[in-house]
Amino acid sequence: MTNIRIAIQKSGRLNEDSLKILKDCGISINNGKDQLKASARNFPLEVFYLRNGDIPQYLRDGVVDTAIIGENVLVEKGKDIGWTEKLGFSKCRVSLAVPKTMKYSTAKDFEGKRIATSYPNTVNDYLKKKGVKADLHIINGSVEIAPNIGLADGICDIVSSGSTLFKNNLEEVEVILKSEAVLAVSPKISEERQEILKKLQFRIQSVLQARQ
Ligand code: PRP
Ligand code: MG
Repeated sequence: MTNIRIAIQKSGRLNEDSLKILKDCGISINNGKDQLKASARNFPLEVFYLRNGDIPQYLRDGVVDTAIIGENVLVEKGKDIGWTEKLGFSKCRVSLAVPKTMKYSTAKDFEGKRIATSYPNTVNDYLKKKGVKADLHIINGSVEIAPNIGLADGICDIVSSGSTLFKNNLEEVEVILKSEAVLAVSPKISEERQEILKKLQFRIQSVLQARQ
């Protein structure tokens, strides 16, 4: 029998809530997340535990049919990939921030400045729209430390509670986008699998309604 293949985050902020929503859909998944792949006992579903940033490519290639992923990751790496449901968790912003000591008024203040970020495409699109040229430094984590160690003048990263910015004496100055977890769909999904996906989407919609 055909299964649909869903990607969820292997570890990190989305992992727990992603498993929780599947569970609330009445789907029980065999084994823990030590294995990179697991199957559901009572629904035609296989779960792949993957790194966030890799998921858009897996969707594009049709190696997975669907995924629970932050909209921010799709904006950065998967603009070509569609999604069908907003899932109501992992809400965050992708924002520009500068040291509290910097005098800031508009995005033009980033002209000629160095910005540390893990979201180069998102920042580039934004700066282009604003007609600002800046110098991006791409780093994969702990971005907020960059201004303090002299690597950058500002940063662009995810803001959720704001506590990481606060602890690093940074101030959020521009919100580039607002994001939450979504159900993304591979452009290569087969018709047969699309039928199974519809059943999953229906269950997800019921769960989301019940949560309201
Ligand atoms: C994420 C993100 C921010 C922080 C935002 O980092 O990169 O740094 O969370 O959350 P907050 O506003 O609630 O503080 P994470 O802790 O996942 O680590 P990483 O940057 O090393 O990936
Ligand atoms: Mg971080």
